[in-house]
Amino acid sequence: MRKFQPKLVRLKEQNARLVAESERTRSPINKGMPTRTTITTTTQCNLACEMCKYHGQEKVESERLPFDKFKDVAEQLFPAAEEFHPTVKGEPLMTPYFEGMLEVMERFGVRLNLTTNGTLLTEEKTSGLIHLLRDVKFSFDGASKRTFEAIRNGARFEQVKENIRAATRVRDEYVAKYQQEDGFRRPTVTIQAVLMTTNIHELPDMVRLGKELGVDRVKGFNLMVLDPEFIKYSLLFDQERANIFITQAVSMARRFGLQTKYQEPFDLKRDVFRYEESGEKRRNCEFLWRQINIEPNGDVTPCCHVDAPVMGNIYREDLRTIWNNEMYQDMRASLDTTGLWECCKTCAMLDMRVLDAKAFIFVPLNIVERKEGGR
Ligand SMILES: C[S@@+](CC[C@H](N)C(=O)[O-])C[C@H]1O[C@@H](n2cnc3c(N)ncnc32)[C@H](O)[C@@H]1O
Ligand code: SF4
Ligand code: SF4
Repeated sequence: MRKFQPKLVRLKEQNARLVAESERTRSPINKGMPTRTTITTTTQCNLACEMCKYHGQEKVESERLPFDKFKDVAEQLFPAAEEFHPTVKGEPLMTPYFEGMLEVMERFGVRLNLTTNGTLLTEEKTSGLIHLLRDVKFSFDGASKRTFEAIRNGARFEQVKENIRAATRVRDEYVAKYQQEDGFRRPTVTIQAVLMTTNIHELPDMVRLGKELGVDRVKGFNLMVLDPEFIKYSLLFDQERANIFITQAVSMARRFGLQTKYQEPFDLKRDVFRYEESGEKRRNCEFLWRQINIEPNGDVTPCCHVDAPVMGNIYREDLRTIWNNEMYQDMRASLDTTGLWECCKTCAMLDMRVLDAKAFIFVPLNIVERKEGGR
């Protein structure tokens, strides 16, 4: 088991306390630095999933963060950070400097939070990162070969299943070897699905499969409609059917002792197409005080919301300055008020509830109304 330098561990603990205090007191100025960093190191991908806006992107240089810039960002953020989440807008294992990235993480004692399509995460690769791993999320959108491969274009069901099985095997060996050591933390394996009209009926079977493969956690979240073509996949128009399978999946996971993080079933009494967020209340955003998101062109955003504002750019300013600039302060100060920022008004990440269709639909609303009318 890799033990990080005590000095680094203390620094991270101290930073986490400052962040927690700033968040608790709703201080617009954050006394700590982000505890978790997401960096889109590449937008390249080897698949072309049906519902993904990022697939099929040309492999152009501008959509990769150069390794030197990654190291520069790491120097600024990693001493205080606990966790790093590589690209959520492409396939992280296609980052050309993936191994170099692991070395930098190790130097700064940062743990890995990985979301992957699982095609390239072989047993050997998992063995090489298990000592840094906090959680690996395998994106897994069907319990049958047919559904899975129809959604995850280019992936092979058996191969991804084998890589998940390998990951849980490597995890088990690691746990057996080190669990008695001081400071041990169990690395976890998760399968996560985008919940859609085309796969919702297989959700309970996905939980069953997760149990069979030995995962720790099953997760699922509503589809973001990023293209008019995606409307047909959205469960916003098929809420009753969705609720049946979400409820079954949750109770099955409980029986199996698996952790779950599924969106709440739809509240059928609420018209999500007419919902308006209003009033002052305490809102829980996991990002504004705790996390930061960096794009390959250097833009810094508070989170991965499609409409998140650009707070600054790492090619022009240092991250300490951006982290507490006027925009950040204003966004934090307004979170609990009626004047919260547009993207926060509908944000589905505030909790796992589906309150407002605008949190999931990012295409012209006249198209959606036609669909709604036809329901
Ligand atoms: C964009 S992918 C990037 C990481 C990696 N390529 C993967 O597939 O896991 C991150 C997650 O977003 C999910 N996703 C893709 N398109 C989505 C959409 N339209 N709405 C919600 N989630 C989506 C993917 O299934 C995956 O779990
Ligand atoms: S593997 Fe991930 S990034 Fe690639 S197309 Fe699928 S969801 Fe998008
Ligand atoms: S859009 Fe959502 S996740 Fe992003 S800062 Fe606002 S509330 Fe937080």
